[in-house]
Amino acid sequence: MRSVKAGIFAVAGVLLAGGLLAGCSQTTQTGGPPGSPAETAAKTQLGDYVIMSWQSIGMKCTSDNDKYFSFHTPGNDLWAQVIKRGDPPLIVTEGIELTYEAPANHRDPSKTINFWDYAPITLKKEIPKNTGKTGLAADQGQFKLDPVKKAWMAIGIPVSPYNDEGQVDAYPMFSVKAIETATGKLLADTKVAAPVSGELGCYICHGGTPKRDGVGLSDDTARDILADHDKNVGTNLLAEAEAGRPQYCLDCHEANNVGAPGKPNVLSMSAALHGKHAQYMQNGSIETCGMCHPSSAKGQVYCERSVHRGFGMDCQNCHGTLPEHAASVLMKQKDLPAAQESLARLKPYLPEDFEAKARANWINQPDCLSCHTDAHTKASTKTTSYNQWITDKNQLFRFDKSDNGDMMCAACHGSPHMIYPASEALGYSEINYQPKTYQGFAGPIGANGNCTVCHLTEPENKDYHHKNQGQPFVPPAFTNDPGK
Ligand code: HEC
Ligand code: HEC
Ligand code: HEC
Ligand code: HEC
Ligand code: HEC
Ligand code: HEC
Ligand code: HEC
Repeated sequence: MRSVKAGIFAVAGVLLAGGLLAGCSQTTQTGGPPGSPAETAAKTQLGDYVIMSWQSIGMKCTSDNDKYFSFHTPGNDLWAQVIKRGDPPLIVTEGIELTYEAPANHRDPSKTINFWDYAPITLKKEIPKNTGKTGLAADQGQFKLDPVKKAWMAIGIPVSPYNDEGQVDAYPMFSVKAIETATGKLLADTKVAAPVSGELGCYICHGGTPKRDGVGLSDDTARDILADHDKNVGTNLLAEAEAGRPQYCLDCHEANNVGAPGKPNVLSMSAALHGKHAQYMQNGSIETCGMCHPSSAKGQVYCERSVHRGFGMDCQNCHGTLPEHAASVLMKQKDLPAAQESLARLKPYLPEDFEAKARANWINQPDCLSCHTDAHTKASTKTTSYNQWITDKNQLFRFDKSDNGDMMCAACHGSPHMIYPASEALGYSEINYQPKTYQGFAGPIGANGNCTVCHLTEPENKDYHHKNQGQPFVPPAFTNDPGK
């Protein structure tokens, strides 16, 4: 289990070094210790408009070997709200066009992933090269307005976990521009990460060698996984794949993130994978979850890089240990014999008086306010949000908006698992681009007297978007980051 090669991360520093934020000025009380993401940075002069843009899930994983199987298509969703600064500020929903553009070395994902070769079989749909499932292009395109949310969306941009030269590049920085439709004038621009990762540690147990620097699903690993499935379930997945007919796991296993219904009476993808593996690994640390999710501190991606990691929190603070996490999705299907078998296997690894609340995969997720309380107060690192799932998809942090008005949570706080200030470890120095350029330090946008990122004068009412917005932001030191 501990065989992940230590020191892999040492080569990662070359990735995105040298951003726009050169010339860090002195640390002030609004920033953080030198070298921390919260360190004070050069603030740009704000114009009449500002763009808040984020990615909806913070890190997208993909099996980059569609020749054998596919469960998540390699892509990403960008969101944005455009604000005309004023007293009060105005969320702009008309008269503009919002565009995205990939960085120069991230325009041809078909060079590094084989998704398009197999889409006609896995997704039963011919998809033009370098285009996403919804028709968006990899290199550039336009956002569409969601008039109810007053937010702009570019859903399903195809992004590879590698740049066009084939190097691991998990957080490519896309540029986003707001243009006045009538005049073609540039109103505002910014940058946002579109994170995708192929760092799946399946090889640690299933054998094979990852394609590059610990990232990528090799043919050998994929074959072993399919052979195990065939042996235990009686499927014919390996032979089918070798005959040129790879399967989409979600054809049989339900996954709510993409609305895949799966086959009736088969475990959901989350229940099958987490339930099967929780008998082999029991805690809920970044390293355990990092066997499959790209969160390991010894890896290349370090996907849970939010302010919470800076405070030393683990996956299990929010999601529970792996057996607890699995038990909750298994309870959702508790009438199926396969779920009962899996729950019986996990019993020894669950606390004595334990009861998991049934949880719908991808929907009933942790609630920020189960630790921070309704008043958005400071929390304790001893708290857990396990079993206190949000109940409706629209309450998911990524879709939620403030108590008053229409500003979305993620506009000011960033993506889940990348909540500002996010760790800049492994060379991803531009990850806090928006808060740093808008207010001079990485933190919630508007914190420590910076409501004027959007307002022209500092408002008196500090409880408007939500309670306690005026409380001081205190950045963590990120002492656990690789390289520290
Ligand atoms: C900590 C070790 C470990 C890791 C990491 C791991 N697996 Fe497994 N996996 C196992 C073991 C052990 C089995 C059972 C093998 C057997 O029955 O012969 C298994 C079985 C499976 C099966 C067959 C399930 C069944 O019973 O039908 C699938 C599918 C699978 N793993 C997928 C994956 C994927 C995908 C990843 C990476 C995202 C992964 N595994 C990572 C240890 C691991
Ligand atoms: C043709 C349908 C089908 C496909 C395709 C399929 N599975 Fe399964 N899988 C099943 C069935 C049926 C079971 C048995 C458990 C059940 O009834 O839910 C199962 C079991 C599993 C288990 C073990 C669950 C347990 O508790 O023992 C894992 C893990 C798993 N599948 C992962 C995958 C992955 C990963 C893929 C894609 C490579 C995949 N499956 C593709 C039908 C399928
Ligand atoms: C054996 C590999 C493996 C391990 C270990 C693992 N995951 Fe996952 N996880 C996956 C895969 C693959 C998916 C995508 C499933 C899908 O498509 O629905 C996933 C999906 C998820 C989801 C979204 C679906 C849901 O249930 O809401 C969450 C949340 C999650 N994992 C959290 C965790 C946490 C927390 C840990 C550690 C306690 C962990 N995972 C350990 C492989 C793993
Ligand atoms: C501070 C709490 C917190 C911590 C710590 C945390 N998560 Fe999450 N996680 C969430 C929330 C909240 C969501 C739901 C986000 C949404 O959909 O808006 C989520 C969703 C997910 C998902 C579904 C995909 C997504 O991004 O929405 C996966 C997978 C996941 N978490 C894995 C992990 C892993 C692995 C770790 C540890 C490396 C971890 N999480 C640590 C709060 C947390
Ligand atoms: C498991 C409990 C837990 C969950 C769930 C949780 N947090 Fe936290 N959060 C903490 C703790 C503990 C701290 C560090 C102490 C503090 O500042 O409150 C923290 C710190 C923060 C900070 C830094 C504040 C500062 O002034 O330094 C922000 C911002 C934040 N959380 C936002 C969120 C958001 C947004 C979510 C939901 C996506 C969330 N939290 C979910 C426990 C949690
Ligand atoms: C990212 C942009 C943004 C930031 C930062 C921001 N606001 Fe606002 N604020 C708005 C918008 C937009 C409105 C108009 C209501 C709406 O559409 O949500 C608004 C409205 C308000 C209002 C009601 C109208 C008024 O002007 O009296 C108050 C009060 C307010 N904000 C307080 C604050 C405070 C306090 C802060 C800093 C802690 C803050 N805002 C930071 C965008 C922002
Ligand atoms: C207009 C910008 C803005 C919006 C929109 C916004 N927040 Fe905040 N949030 C802030 C600021 C500024 C703070 C105060 C700084 C702090 O406490 O670290 C804060 C503080 C918090 C905290 C307390 C963190 C701590 O430990 O101190 C949580 C939790 C939180 N917000 C969650 C949310 C959620 C959930 C939403 C959506 C329902 C949301 N925020 C919407 C700007 C915003």
